Amino acid sequence: MKFFVDTADVGDIKDLLDTGFLDGVTTNPSLVAKSGRDFLEVITEICGLTDMPVSAEVSAVDTEGMILEGERLAGIAENVVVKLPLTLDGLRACRHFRQKGIRTNVTLCFSANQALLAAKAGATYVSPFIGRLDDINLEGSHLLGDIRTIYNNYDFETRILAASIRSANHVTQAALAGADVATVPPGVIRKLAEHPLTQNGLAQFLSDWQDTGQSIV
Ligand code: G3P
Repeated sequence: MKFFVDTADVGDIKDLLDTGFLDGVTTNPSLVAKSGRDFLEVITEICGLTDMPVSAEVSAVDTEGMILEGERLAGIAENVVVKLPLTLDGLRACRHFRQKGIRTNVTLCFSANQALLAAKAGATYVSPFIGRLDDINLEGSHLLGDIRTIYNNYDFETRILAASIRSANHVTQAALAGADVATVPPGVIRKLAEHPLTQNGLAQFLSDWQDTGQSIV
């Protein structure tokens, strides 16, 4: 499973690129607003840090506006992936970008039927928001599984990009469901390697080693 980092914070992106675990970046209007930065400037800066896929979302809600904005975003760098909302207008724009060879990330997906339409529209990625489904007592992981089954049934090329990840458990659920990608907030990525038994075991090893009085180098 690929890991994208879900943020517009350049400092976090730089820090996590060094781990070697990142395969891309996703942003959205709320994350850009949280960064306090100019949208086009921050996307340009992120694309200067990596040639991995960088999702940048349009603000228009009509097909023509999405196409205009998406082409501007795609012009920033080759690795920009145009993010489009999963609406009929967004799906029309998706088809346009597919025909032009511009990668798309169709976002705000909350049902299997929506994901089916995204695949038929030729989306590069579809982003089911599992955290927001869990927030209303639905099972986000079940949606991931349903999309995986449907995409496998018809050999769709669209990649499942699990989004709205709020915890390490969500990352596990995405991997178990067969998501192609999970886009993960920086704080959750940093926690993935942590386990209290690892910390305790390492402390004990170090203590016992020090008691030997030995050194390796
Ligand atoms: O990429 C989508 C993600 O940022 C949404 O997460 O926590 O706002 O549902 P959240």
